[in-house]
Amino acid sequence: MTTTNLSAPPATFTLDPVARAALFTEARSATAFDHRPVDGDVITRAWDLAKWGPTSNNTQPLRLVIARSEEARAAVLDAAMPGNRPRLAQAPLIAVVARDDRFHDHHEIVAPGMAGFHERFEANPQMRAGLAHSGTMLGLGYVIVALRAEGLAVRPYGGFDRTALDASLMPAHWGAEVLLGVGYPAPGDHGAGERRGRIDAATGVREL
Ligand SMILES: Cc1cc2nc3c(=O)[nH]c(=O)nc-3n(C[C@H](O)[C@H](O)[C@H](O)COP(=O)(O)O)c2cc1C
Repeated sequence: MTTTNLSAPPATFTLDPVARAALFTEARSATAFDHRPVDGDVITRAWDLAKWGPTSNNTQPLRLVIARSEEARAAVLDAAMPGNRPRLAQAPLIAVVARDDRFHDHHEIVAPGMAGFHERFEANPQMRAGLAHSGTMLGLGYVIVALRAEGLAVRPYGGFDRTALDASLMPAHWGAEVLLGVGYPAPGDHGAGERRGRIDAATGVREL
């Protein structure tokens, strides 16, 4: 792919076949990784892609906790469902996709000059909680694709004890949503076997 300094997308654009395969059609939820460590720079680069994905009212509630230390890794593995532990433990990097239940505190960045933004969310914790969760799950998709775009493989895990992990590892007012095992792809993966089917457009898309 060519490197560009575009300030706006080109008028016509098609993702090249290699990128389509790497981001979507050939990318799997990895069960194994090679031994290369994942440094913080590549995570920052992935963040700098994923952060541009749209969220409701630009709320951007997703946060990432990188469980880099032995203690942090142990806290995540302890919280994981027993069936998920062995695979997650093999990931060179474990991350937690979290929601910030006080995303509105960043109003000067996400809603500059927007009168009442902070006040409205402060006054309505129920609406805030709903948006924090849904926006984080939306952002999870961007994060997975962004990590793939940086050459990484990922397996998400929803099977873990959120209450335990919130208590042991999460910063104040952040809540754990999904765990990620992250690393560089291992040749020969796939430990989950044959890829399961996908709903095709004939079933999943209705033109009315
Ligand atoms: C939100 C979410 C939660 C998931 N939770 C688990 C899990 O707890 N354990 C697991 O082994 N895989 C988990 N997965 C992985 C899915 O099973 C996998 O992405 C799906 O079967 C598609 O596999 P493929 O990408 O290899 O085609 C999860 C995926 C997502 C997106």
